[in-house]
Amino acid sequence: AQRKQIDKVLALFRLTQEQLVGIRNKMRVEFEYGLKKDTHPLATVKMLPTYVCGMPDGTEKGKFLALDLGGTNFRVLLVKIRSGRRSVRMYNKIFAIPLEIMQGTGEELFDHIVQCIADFLDYMGLKGAQLPLGFTFSFPCRQASIDKGTLIEWTKGFKATDCEGEDVVDMLREAIKRRNEFDLDIVAVVNDTVGTMMTCGYEDSNCEVGLIAGTGSNMCYMEEMRNIELVEGDEGKMCINTEWGGFGDNGCLDDIHTQYDKEVDEGSLNPGKQRYEKMTSGMYLGEIVRQILIDLTKQGLLFRGQISERLRTRGIFETKFLSQIESDRLALLQVRRILQQLGLDSTCEDSIVVKEVCGAVSRRAAQLYGAGLAAIVEKRREDQGLEHMRITVGVDGTLYKLHPHFSRILRETVKELAPQCDVMFMLSEDGSGKGAALITAVAKRLQQAQR
Ligand code: BG6
Ligand code: GLC
Repeated sequence: AQRKQIDKVLALFRLTQEQLVGIRNKMRVEFEYGLKKDTHPLATVKMLPTYVCGMPDGTEKGKFLALDLGGTNFRVLLVKIRSGRRSVRMYNKIFAIPLEIMQGTGEELFDHIVQCIADFLDYMGLKGAQLPLGFTFSFPCRQASIDKGTLIEWTKGFKATDCEGEDVVDMLREAIKRRNEFDLDIVAVVNDTVGTMMTCGYEDSNCEVGLIAGTGSNMCYMEEMRNIELVEGDEGKMCINTEWGGFGDNGCLDDIHTQYDKEVDEGSLNPGKQRYEKMTSGMYLGEIVRQILIDLTKQGLLFRGQISERLRTRGIFETKFLSQIESDRLALLQVRRILQQLGLDSTCEDSIVVKEVCGAVSRRAAQLYGAGLAAIVEKRREDQGLEHMRITVGVDGTLYKLHPHFSRILRETVKELAPQCDVMFMLSEDGSGKGAALITAVAKRLQQAQR
Protein backbone atom coordinates (compact mmCIF):
# COMPACT_ATOMS: atom_id res chain seq x y z
CA ALA A 1 0.00 0.00 0.00
CA GLN A 2 2.88 2.32 0.81
CA ARG A 3 4.39 1.66 -2.59
CA LYS A 4 1.12 2.59 -4.24
CA GLN A 5 1.02 5.93 -2.46
CA ILE A 6 4.56 6.72 -3.50
CA ASP A 7 3.89 5.73 -7.10
CA LYS A 8 0.87 7.96 -7.15
CA VAL A 9 3.03 10.95 -6.34
CA LEU A 10 5.76 10.01 -8.82
CA ALA A 11 3.15 9.54 -11.55
CA LEU A 12 2.28 13.24 -11.35
CA PHE A 13 5.69 13.95 -12.86
CA ARG A 14 5.45 11.54 -15.75
CA LEU A 15 4.69 13.19 -19.07
CA THR A 16 3.26 11.22 -21.97
CA GLN A 17 4.48 11.69 -25.52
CA GLU A 18 1.17 13.34 -26.28
CA GLN A 19 1.59 15.84 -23.46
CA LEU A 20 5.10 16.67 -24.62
CA VAL A 21 3.90 17.27 -28.17
CA GLY A 22 1.22 19.54 -26.71
CA ILE A 23 3.82 21.52 -24.77
CA ARG A 24 6.04 21.84 -27.84
CA ASN A 25 3.10 23.19 -29.81
CA LYS A 26 2.08 25.67 -27.14
CA MET A 27 5.64 26.94 -26.87
CA ARG A 28 5.67 27.45 -30.63
CA VAL A 29 2.48 29.52 -30.44
CA GLU A 30 4.05 31.66 -27.70
CA PHE A 31 7.11 32.32 -29.87
CA GLU A 32 4.88 33.64 -32.63
CA TYR A 33 2.83 35.84 -30.26
CA GLY A 34 5.96 37.29 -28.72
CA LEU A 35 7.37 38.36 -32.10
CA LYS A 36 4.29 40.44 -32.89
CA LYS A 37 4.20 44.19 -32.47
CA ASP A 38 0.92 44.27 -30.64
CA THR A 39 1.65 41.84 -27.92
CA HIS A 40 -1.12 39.45 -27.23
CA PRO A 41 -2.60 40.02 -23.76
CA LEU A 42 -1.79 36.45 -22.83
CA ALA A 43 1.69 36.38 -24.31
CA THR A 44 4.22 35.37 -21.68
CA VAL A 45 7.31 34.47 -23.67
CA LYS A 46 8.87 37.89 -24.13
CA MET A 47 10.93 37.34 -27.32
CA LEU A 48 13.26 40.28 -26.71
CA PRO A 49 15.32 41.70 -29.59
CA THR A 50 19.01 41.81 -28.60
CA TYR A 51 20.51 43.90 -31.42
CA VAL A 52 23.08 41.17 -31.91
CA CYS A 53 22.92 40.60 -35.63
CA GLY A 54 25.74 38.33 -36.57
CA MET A 55 28.34 35.90 -35.45
CA PRO A 56 31.94 36.92 -34.89
CA ASP A 57 33.91 36.46 -38.11
CA GLY A 58 37.38 36.02 -36.66
CA THR A 59 38.58 39.55 -37.35
CA GLU A 60 37.71 40.73 -33.84
CA LYS A 61 40.63 41.75 -31.71
CA GLY A 62 41.62 43.70 -28.65
CA LYS A 63 41.43 43.71 -24.87
CA PHE A 64 38.06 43.78 -23.19
CA LEU A 65 36.57 43.71 -19.76
CA ALA A 66 33.50 41.60 -19.14
CA LEU A 67 31.10 41.34 -16.23
CA ASP A 68 29.04 38.23 -15.76
CA LEU A 69 26.14 38.66 -13.37
CA GLY A 70 23.13 36.46 -12.70
CA GLY A 71 24.32 32.85 -12.54
CA THR A 72 25.91 30.87 -9.74
CA ASN A 73 29.00 33.07 -9.80
CA PHE A 74 29.55 36.75 -10.34
CA ARG A 75 32.74 37.22 -12.32
CA VAL A 76 34.86 40.00 -13.67
CA LEU A 77 36.97 39.05 -16.68
CA LEU A 78 39.71 40.38 -18.86
CA VAL A 79 39.44 38.90 -22.35
CA LYS A 80 42.19 39.23 -24.94
CA ILE A 81 41.14 38.40 -28.46
CA ARG A 82 43.64 37.94 -31.27
CA SER A 83 42.32 38.05 -34.79
CA GLY A 84 43.13 35.52 -37.45
CA ARG A 85 43.94 32.61 -35.24
CA ARG A 86 40.75 32.87 -33.27
CA SER A 87 42.64 32.70 -30.06
CA VAL A 88 41.17 34.07 -26.89
CA ARG A 89 42.87 34.42 -23.55
CA MET A 90 40.90 35.04 -20.41
CA TYR A 91 41.65 36.01 -16.86
CA ASN A 92 38.84 36.07 -14.38
CA LYS A 93 38.01 36.42 -10.76
CA ILE A 94 34.90 35.27 -8.97
CA PHE A 95 33.33 37.56 -6.41
CA ALA A 96 30.60 36.81 -3.92
CA ILE A 97 27.37 38.75 -3.91
CA PRO A 98 25.96 38.54 -0.41
CA LEU A 99 22.23 37.92 -0.11
CA GLU A 100 21.65 41.30 1.51
CA ILE A 101 23.09 42.92 -1.60
CA MET A 102 21.10 40.78 -4.04
CA GLN A 103 17.98 41.85 -2.20
CA GLY A 104 19.04 45.29 -0.99
CA THR A 105 18.88 48.55 -2.95
CA GLY A 106 19.90 48.95 -6.58
CA GLU A 107 22.53 51.50 -5.61
CA GLU A 108 24.14 49.10 -3.17
CA LEU A 109 24.14 46.35 -5.77
CA PHE A 110 25.80 48.46 -8.46
CA ASP A 111 28.25 50.00 -5.98
CA HIS A 112 29.23 46.47 -5.01
CA ILE A 113 29.72 45.51 -8.67
CA VAL A 114 31.95 48.53 -9.24
CA GLN A 115 33.90 47.71 -6.08
CA CYS A 116 34.56 44.25 -7.55
CA ILE A 117 35.68 45.77 -10.86
CA ALA A 118 38.06 48.04 -8.93
CA ASP A 119 39.48 45.05 -7.04
CA PHE A 120 39.92 43.16 -10.29
CA LEU A 121 41.68 46.02 -12.08
CA ASP A 122 43.94 46.34 -9.09
CA TYR A 123 44.63 42.63 -9.05
CA MET A 124 45.44 42.60 -12.77
CA GLY A 125 47.62 45.69 -12.49
CA LEU A 126 45.29 47.57 -14.81
CA LYS A 127 44.39 50.52 -12.63
CA GLY A 128 43.57 53.50 -14.77
CA ALA A 129 43.22 51.49 -17.98
CA GLN A 130 40.26 52.53 -20.06
CA LEU A 131 38.87 49.39 -21.60
CA PRO A 132 35.66 48.62 -23.48
CA LEU A 133 33.32 46.57 -21.35
CA GLY A 134 30.69 43.94 -22.17
CA PHE A 135 28.10 43.31 -19.49
CA THR A 136 26.51 39.87 -19.29
CA PHE A 137 23.38 40.55 -17.33
CA SER A 138 21.24 37.43 -17.10
CA PHE A 139 17.81 38.93 -16.61
CA PRO A 140 15.07 40.07 -19.01
CA CYS A 141 15.94 43.44 -20.54
CA ARG A 142 14.09 45.51 -23.09
CA GLN A 143 16.76 46.76 -25.49
CA ALA A 144 16.64 49.59 -28.01
CA SER A 145 20.28 49.14 -28.96
CA ILE A 146 23.17 46.94 -28.02
CA ASP A 147 24.29 49.25 -25.19
CA LYS A 148 20.93 49.93 -23.57
CA GLY A 149 18.88 47.50 -21.54
CA THR A 150 15.93 48.27 -19.32
CA LEU A 151 15.40 45.62 -16.70
CA ILE A 152 11.84 44.37 -17.07
CA GLU A 153 11.77 42.40 -13.85
CA TRP A 154 14.14 40.50 -11.64
CA THR A 155 14.07 36.70 -11.76
CA LYS A 156 15.80 33.92 -9.80
CA GLY A 157 17.33 35.10 -6.50
CA PHE A 158 17.63 38.84 -7.16
CA LYS A 159 15.27 41.48 -5.86
CA ALA A 160 17.22 44.72 -5.47
CA THR A 161 14.96 47.76 -5.25
CA ASP A 162 14.75 50.62 -7.77
CA CYS A 163 16.11 48.66 -10.73
CA GLU A 164 13.03 47.42 -12.54
CA GLY A 165 12.19 49.82 -15.34
CA GLU A 166 15.70 51.31 -15.23
CA ASP A 167 18.51 51.02 -17.76
CA VAL A 168 21.14 48.77 -16.18
CA VAL A 169 23.91 50.32 -18.28
CA ASP A 170 23.02 53.74 -16.88
CA MET A 171 22.98 52.30 -13.39
CA LEU A 172 26.44 50.86 -13.91
CA ARG A 173 27.74 54.13 -15.39
CA GLU A 174 26.37 56.11 -12.47
CA ALA A 175 27.96 53.75 -9.96
CA ILE A 176 31.30 54.16 -11.77
CA LYS A 177 30.86 57.93 -11.59
CA ARG A 178 30.02 57.80 -7.87
CA ARG A 179 33.25 55.98 -7.24
CA ASN A 180 35.14 58.47 -9.39
CA GLU A 181 38.22 56.31 -9.69
CA PHE A 182 38.19 55.01 -13.26
CA ASP A 183 36.32 55.31 -16.48
CA LEU A 184 34.97 52.47 -18.59
CA ASP A 185 33.37 52.39 -21.98
CA ILE A 186 30.29 50.18 -21.63
CA VAL A 187 29.66 48.94 -25.15
CA ALA A 188 27.21 46.05 -24.84
CA VAL A 189 24.73 44.47 -22.50
CA VAL A 190 24.15 40.81 -23.20
CA ASN A 191 21.99 38.02 -21.84
CA ASP A 192 23.84 34.84 -20.77
CA THR A 193 22.07 32.79 -23.45
CA VAL A 194 23.38 35.21 -26.08
CA GLY A 195 26.88 35.16 -24.62
CA THR A 196 26.81 31.37 -24.68
CA MET A 197 25.62 31.25 -28.28
CA MET A 198 28.43 33.63 -29.27
CA THR A 199 31.07 31.70 -27.37
CA CYS A 200 30.07 28.54 -29.22
CA GLY A 201 29.47 30.41 -32.48
CA TYR A 202 33.10 31.48 -32.48
CA GLU A 203 34.04 27.83 -33.01
CA ASP A 204 31.04 26.62 -34.98
CA SER A 205 29.25 29.01 -37.31
CA ASN A 206 26.25 26.67 -37.40
CA CYS A 207 25.52 27.57 -33.78
CA GLU A 208 22.30 29.58 -33.89
CA VAL A 209 20.76 28.71 -30.54
CA GLY A 210 21.99 29.44 -27.01
CA LEU A 211 20.60 27.42 -24.12
CA ILE A 212 21.03 27.83 -20.38
CA ALA A 213 20.13 25.05 -17.98
CA GLY A 214 21.48 26.45 -14.75
CA THR A 215 20.17 28.52 -11.88
CA GLY A 216 17.61 29.76 -14.37
CA SER A 217 16.18 28.44 -17.64
CA ASN A 218 16.33 30.32 -20.92
CA MET A 219 17.03 30.10 -24.66
CA CYS A 220 17.99 32.51 -27.46
CA TYR A 221 18.20 31.97 -31.21
CA MET A 222 18.82 33.75 -34.50
CA GLU A 223 15.59 34.94 -36.08
CA GLU A 224 14.93 36.38 -39.54
CA MET A 225 14.59 40.17 -39.29
CA ARG A 226 11.44 40.08 -41.37
CA ASN A 227 9.74 38.05 -38.62
CA ILE A 228 10.59 40.54 -35.87
CA GLU A 229 7.83 43.12 -36.00
CA LEU A 230 9.29 45.19 -33.19
CA VAL A 231 12.46 46.04 -35.09
CA GLU A 232 12.59 47.87 -38.38
CA GLY A 233 14.24 46.32 -41.39
CA ASP A 234 13.79 43.04 -43.18
CA GLU A 235 17.32 42.07 -44.07
CA GLY A 236 19.42 39.53 -42.24
CA LYS A 237 18.92 38.07 -38.80
CA MET A 238 18.87 39.17 -35.21
CA CYS A 239 19.25 37.20 -32.02
CA ILE A 240 16.08 36.96 -29.93
CA ASN A 241 16.28 36.36 -26.20
CA THR A 242 13.08 34.35 -25.72
CA GLU A 243 12.93 34.50 -21.88
CA TRP A 244 11.01 31.26 -22.11
CA GLY A 245 11.16 30.93 -18.31
CA GLY A 246 7.86 32.84 -18.28
CA PHE A 247 6.12 30.19 -20.38
CA GLY A 248 3.02 29.00 -18.51
CA ASP A 249 2.42 32.25 -16.63
CA ASN A 250 -0.90 32.57 -18.49
CA GLY A 251 -2.03 29.22 -17.14
CA CYS A 252 -1.26 27.17 -20.25
CA LEU A 253 0.77 24.64 -18.24
CA ASP A 254 -1.77 24.29 -15.43
CA ASP A 255 -2.63 20.74 -16.44
CA ILE A 256 0.84 19.53 -15.54
CA HIS A 257 1.45 21.91 -12.64
CA THR A 258 1.39 19.87 -9.42
CA GLN A 259 0.64 20.97 -5.85
CA TYR A 260 4.41 20.79 -5.25
CA ASP A 261 5.07 23.23 -8.07
CA LYS A 262 2.50 25.55 -6.51
CA GLU A 263 4.22 25.39 -3.16
CA VAL A 264 7.59 26.18 -4.72
CA ASP A 265 6.04 29.08 -6.61
CA GLU A 266 4.40 30.50 -3.50
CA GLY A 267 7.64 30.32 -1.54
CA SER A 268 9.65 32.07 -4.27
CA LEU A 269 10.60 35.74 -4.65
CA ASN A 270 8.31 36.13 -7.66
CA PRO A 271 5.10 34.14 -7.12
CA GLY A 272 3.00 33.54 -10.23
CA LYS A 273 5.95 34.30 -12.53
CA GLN A 274 8.45 32.13 -14.39
CA ARG A 275 6.38 28.95 -14.11
CA TYR A 276 8.35 27.00 -16.74
CA GLU A 277 11.63 28.12 -15.18
CA LYS A 278 10.39 26.90 -11.81
CA MET A 279 9.66 23.45 -13.24
CA THR A 280 13.00 23.16 -15.01
CA SER A 281 15.93 25.01 -13.51
CA GLY A 282 18.55 24.37 -10.85
CA MET A 283 17.32 26.98 -8.44
CA TYR A 284 13.96 25.24 -8.09
CA LEU A 285 14.32 21.50 -8.78
CA GLY A 286 15.69 20.82 -5.31
CA GLU A 287 12.82 22.78 -3.85
CA ILE A 288 10.28 20.64 -5.70
CA VAL A 289 12.03 17.56 -4.34
CA ARG A 290 11.91 18.99 -0.83
CA GLN A 291 8.17 19.69 -1.10
CA ILE A 292 7.53 16.12 -2.23
CA LEU A 293 9.64 14.71 0.59
CA ILE A 294 7.73 16.81 3.14
CA ASP A 295 4.46 15.47 1.78
CA LEU A 296 5.63 11.86 1.73
CA THR A 297 6.86 12.26 5.30
CA LYS A 298 3.51 13.70 6.35
CA GLN A 299 1.88 10.64 4.84
CA GLY A 300 4.18 8.53 6.98
CA LEU A 301 6.01 7.13 3.95
CA LEU A 302 9.46 8.54 4.70
CA PHE A 303 11.82 9.43 7.54
CA ARG A 304 9.63 7.56 10.04
CA GLY A 305 7.02 10.24 9.60
CA GLN A 306 9.20 12.86 11.29
CA ILE A 307 9.64 16.19 9.51
CA SER A 308 12.99 17.49 10.70
CA GLU A 309 14.01 21.13 10.95
CA ARG A 310 16.43 20.51 8.08
CA LEU A 311 13.69 19.31 5.78
CA ARG A 312 11.82 22.50 6.55
CA THR A 313 14.80 24.56 5.41
CA ARG A 314 14.53 26.21 2.00
CA GLY A 315 17.28 25.58 -0.52
CA ILE A 316 18.96 22.54 1.06
CA PHE A 317 18.92 20.49 -2.15
CA GLU A 318 21.25 22.36 -4.44
CA THR A 319 21.80 21.13 -7.99
CA LYS A 320 25.06 19.50 -7.00
CA PHE A 321 23.32 17.32 -4.38
CA LEU A 322 20.58 16.27 -6.79
CA SER A 323 23.30 15.38 -9.27
CA GLN A 324 25.19 13.33 -6.72
CA ILE A 325 22.10 11.51 -5.47
CA GLU A 326 21.15 10.53 -9.00
CA SER A 327 24.55 9.35 -10.05
CA ASP A 328 24.38 5.67 -10.98
CA ARG A 329 27.87 5.15 -9.76
CA LEU A 330 26.81 5.73 -6.18
CA ALA A 331 25.77 2.87 -3.98
CA LEU A 332 22.73 3.44 -1.85
CA LEU A 333 24.92 3.67 1.16
CA GLN A 334 26.54 6.72 -0.36
CA VAL A 335 23.16 8.24 -1.10
CA ARG A 336 22.39 7.80 2.56
CA ARG A 337 25.61 9.52 3.41
CA ILE A 338 24.72 12.52 1.27
CA LEU A 339 21.34 12.73 2.93
CA GLN A 340 23.10 12.54 6.25
CA GLN A 341 25.33 15.43 5.23
CA LEU A 342 22.16 17.34 4.48
CA GLY A 343 21.03 16.54 7.99
CA LEU A 344 18.42 14.00 6.89
CA ASP A 345 18.56 10.77 8.83
CA SER A 346 17.41 8.05 6.45
CA THR A 347 16.95 4.33 6.31
CA CYS A 348 17.98 2.36 3.28
CA GLU A 349 14.40 2.36 2.00
CA ASP A 350 14.20 6.10 2.47
CA SER A 351 17.23 6.64 0.31
CA ILE A 352 15.69 4.57 -2.50
CA VAL A 353 12.58 6.71 -2.42
CA VAL A 354 14.54 9.97 -2.31
CA LYS A 355 16.52 8.90 -5.35
CA GLU A 356 13.31 8.05 -7.21
CA VAL A 357 11.82 11.41 -6.36
CA CYS A 358 14.92 13.26 -7.60
CA GLY A 359 14.83 11.19 -10.78
CA ALA A 360 11.19 11.97 -11.48
CA VAL A 361 11.66 15.71 -10.98
CA SER A 362 14.82 16.07 -13.05
CA ARG A 363 13.48 13.83 -15.80
CA ARG A 364 10.41 16.01 -16.18
CA ALA A 365 12.68 19.07 -16.29
CA ALA A 366 14.84 17.62 -19.07
CA GLN A 367 11.75 16.62 -21.06
CA LEU A 368 10.23 20.07 -20.70
CA TYR A 369 13.49 21.58 -21.93
CA GLY A 370 13.42 19.13 -24.82
CA ALA A 371 9.89 20.17 -25.78
CA GLY A 372 10.90 23.84 -25.75
CA LEU A 373 14.01 23.25 -27.78
CA ALA A 374 12.12 21.09 -30.28
CA ALA A 375 9.71 23.99 -30.78
CA ILE A 376 12.50 26.38 -31.77
CA VAL A 377 14.43 24.08 -34.08
CA GLU A 378 11.21 23.07 -35.84
CA LYS A 379 10.30 26.72 -36.25
CA ARG A 380 13.70 27.50 -37.74
CA ARG A 381 13.42 24.53 -40.09
CA GLU A 382 9.96 25.50 -41.32
CA ASP A 383 10.85 29.20 -41.63
CA GLN A 384 13.71 28.27 -43.94
CA GLY A 385 11.55 25.84 -45.89
CA LEU A 386 13.88 22.94 -45.25
CA GLU A 387 12.98 19.28 -45.30
CA HIS A 388 15.83 18.53 -43.01
CA MET A 389 17.99 20.86 -40.92
CA ARG A 390 21.26 20.65 -39.03
CA ILE A 391 21.78 23.09 -36.21
CA THR A 392 24.15 23.53 -33.29
CA VAL A 393 22.96 24.56 -29.84
CA GLY A 394 25.47 26.19 -27.50
CA VAL A 395 24.73 25.15 -23.92
CA ASP A 396 25.84 26.19 -20.47
CA GLY A 397 24.69 25.96 -16.87
CA THR A 398 25.31 23.85 -13.80
CA LEU A 399 22.27 21.63 -14.31
CA TYR A 400 23.39 20.65 -17.80
CA LYS A 401 27.00 20.23 -16.74
CA LEU A 402 26.66 18.44 -13.43
CA HIS A 403 23.57 16.30 -13.69
CA PRO A 404 24.24 12.69 -14.71
CA HIS A 405 21.11 12.19 -16.88
CA PHE A 406 19.77 15.61 -17.77
CA SER A 407 21.65 16.14 -21.04
CA ARG A 408 20.84 12.65 -22.34
CA ILE A 409 17.11 12.94 -21.65
CA LEU A 410 17.11 16.40 -23.20
CA ARG A 411 18.77 15.05 -26.34
CA GLU A 412 16.41 12.08 -26.60
CA THR A 413 13.35 14.28 -26.19
CA VAL A 414 14.45 16.70 -28.90
CA LYS A 415 15.08 13.81 -31.24
CA GLU A 416 11.58 12.47 -30.69
CA LEU A 417 9.84 15.82 -30.93
CA ALA A 418 11.84 17.26 -33.83
CA PRO A 419 12.76 14.23 -35.94
CA GLN A 420 13.58 16.29 -39.02
CA CYS A 421 16.29 18.22 -37.24
CA ASP A 422 19.81 17.12 -36.51
CA VAL A 423 20.63 18.93 -33.32
CA MET A 424 24.24 19.09 -32.15
CA PHE A 425 24.89 20.19 -28.59
CA MET A 426 28.04 22.13 -27.92
CA LEU A 427 29.09 22.79 -24.36
CA SER A 428 30.33 26.29 -23.72
CA GLU A 429 33.60 25.83 -21.90
CA ASP A 430 34.24 29.46 -21.16
CA GLY A 431 30.96 30.75 -19.84
CA SER A 432 29.18 33.66 -21.42
CA GLY A 433 31.79 36.28 -20.53
CA LYS A 434 33.84 35.35 -23.59
CA GLY A 435 30.75 35.77 -25.78
CA ALA A 436 30.07 39.16 -24.23
CA ALA A 437 33.62 40.22 -25.08
CA LEU A 438 33.21 39.02 -28.67
CA ILE A 439 29.96 40.95 -29.01
CA THR A 440 31.68 43.99 -27.54
CA ALA A 441 34.49 43.61 -30.06
CA VAL A 442 32.04 43.50 -32.97
CA ALA A 443 30.04 46.45 -31.61
CA LYS A 444 33.22 48.46 -31.09
CA ARG A 445 34.34 47.77 -34.66
CA LEU A 446 30.96 48.90 -36.02
CA GLN A 447 31.03 52.01 -33.80
CA GLN A 448 34.42 52.98 -35.17
CA ALA A 449 33.34 52.29 -38.75
CA GLN A 450 30.42 54.68 -38.32
CA ARG A 451 32.58 57.55 -37.10
C1 BG6 B 1 27.67 30.65 -17.58
C2 BG6 B 1 27.60 32.12 -17.49
O1 BG6 B 1 28.03 30.50 -18.88
O2 BG6 B 1 26.46 29.98 -17.38
C3 BG6 B 1 26.70 32.61 -16.40
O3 BG6 B 1 28.86 32.67 -17.59
C4 BG6 B 1 25.40 31.96 -16.60
O4 BG6 B 1 26.56 33.98 -16.40
C5 BG6 B 1 25.63 30.52 -16.38
O5 BG6 B 1 24.36 32.54 -15.88
C6 BG6 B 1 24.40 29.70 -16.21
O6 BG6 B 1 24.75 28.77 -15.29
P1 BG6 B 1 24.49 28.79 -13.73
O7 BG6 B 1 24.30 27.35 -13.45
O8 BG6 B 1 25.71 29.36 -13.11
O9 BG6 B 1 23.27 29.59 -13.48
C1 GLC C 1 16.42 33.70 -15.95
C2 GLC C 1 16.61 35.07 -16.58
C3 GLC C 1 17.20 34.94 -17.96
C4 GLC C 1 18.44 34.09 -17.93
C5 GLC C 1 18.16 32.75 -17.28
C6 GLC C 1 19.37 31.87 -17.19
O1 GLC C 1 15.44 33.03 -16.66
O2 GLC C 1 15.39 35.77 -16.60
O3 GLC C 1 17.48 36.22 -18.50
O4 GLC C 1 18.92 33.90 -19.22
O5 GLC C 1 17.63 32.95 -16.00
O6 GLC C 1 20.38 32.44 -16.41
